[in-house]
Amino acid sequence: MNNLIASYTRLTSHVYQSWYAIPIRVIVGYGFMEHGYAKIMHGPESFTTILHALGMPAPGLLAWATILIELFGGLAVFLGAFIPIVSIPMAIVLFVAIFTVHLPNGFSSIKLLSVDAAGAHFGQPGYETDLLYFAGLLALVLGGSGPLAFDNIILRRSSKATKTKSVLGGCMMALLAVASGAAYAQVKTTEIAAAENAGRVDDAEGNLRVPADYRTAYQFLGSWAVAADQGQGSKEMHVVYASPGTISAYRQDGRFPDGSVLVKEVFETTTGAMTTGNVSSAKMLKGWFVMMRDGKNSHPDNKLWGDGWGWSWFDAATPSKTTSTNYKVDCQPCHIPAQASDWIYVQGYPALKQ
Ligand code: HEC
Repeated sequence: MNNLIASYTRLTSHVYQSWYAIPIRVIVGYGFMEHGYAKIMHGPESFTTILHALGMPAPGLLAWATILIELFGGLAVFLGAFIPIVSIPMAIVLFVAIFTVHLPNGFSSIKLLSVDAAGAHFGQPGYETDLLYFAGLLALVLGGSGPLAFDNIILRRSSKATKTKSVLGGCMMALLAVASGAAYAQVKTTEIAAAENAGRVDDAEGNLRVPADYRTAYQFLGSWAVAADQGQGSKEMHVVYASPGTISAYRQDGRFPDGSVLVKEVFETTTGAMTTGNVSSAKMLKGWFVMMRDGKNSHPDNKLWGDGWGWSWFDAATPSKTTSTNYKVDCQPCHIPAQASDWIYVQGYPALKQ
């Protein structure tokens, strides 16, 4: 034990002390760049929509500012350049994320809810990761950017010894860059699972799924009661939700913006006497209809996409795998009466009216 502690003390003697900064720079720098890159890959306009839904001012400008801070701030931290300066906007990005998104979810960033055939399911992330990043930045600001830092290399270019050191440093950084490139490729393949994708409804091939959090994150649009064939009451109830931001965008120009998602729950009902009269209420969820707006015809070869939308039905048991095969057969004929309003029965949704 004493030996162990003695060797630890030797390792942390001042020659190696400053190396503490390297793992922090790698993970904090890489982490920020990865988040900025992911936002660009998903389309900066979808991040703009999110900021808009959060009620942030000037969402377009803010989206780009965030992405640039994440990309270039991350790169600067990675290279050890101007850390005390770039840390300021980076810390602001973290705290805005904490206060606008993560605070209501509590501390923990990883909350395993369940594991089933579709894999592990996690709850909404809290502010733990933001604070870890912040702690990393703070440590670098207080302790310095350490060896192999861009700052040191340009400040002490003159001495010969540091020249060799900077060549070595350059090689090390190049190695780290290659290693993180490889790590990035790894991360990209599991991108669907990334936090930014938690609310994602479509994948690259255009397969839709029922958004996991629509009951808390989406906005209520309206409901329909389908009358019983005989007798009183309703045999089915339909409850329709819209993705955040859809309603306010529609009220502005009467159009569903690209990426808008509509979810219609279909319930079997039960009808009975209550103090208000003969009342039907939702009893069992049969499944969901999901539509995603797509004015760009992004999936021309997919039979579930067309006429400006992606279309799918999901049985209650399989919210991530549709049983629909062709929207022109499964859906569209029944939506023809609503063709003039973009195939949506908008008259049933008071929230869309001016
Ligand atoms: C039997 C006819 C019929 C079929 C088939 C049908 N729909 Fe609908 N759909 C309607 C009607 C009518 C409404 C509005 C009234 C209601 O829900 O009862 C509606 C409403 C919806 C809504 C809510 C938004 C809106 O348009 O008002 C969604 C989402 C939806 N359908 C998606 C689909 C998808 C996706 C398919 C195919 C997988 C599909 N529907 C197939 C008739 C149909």
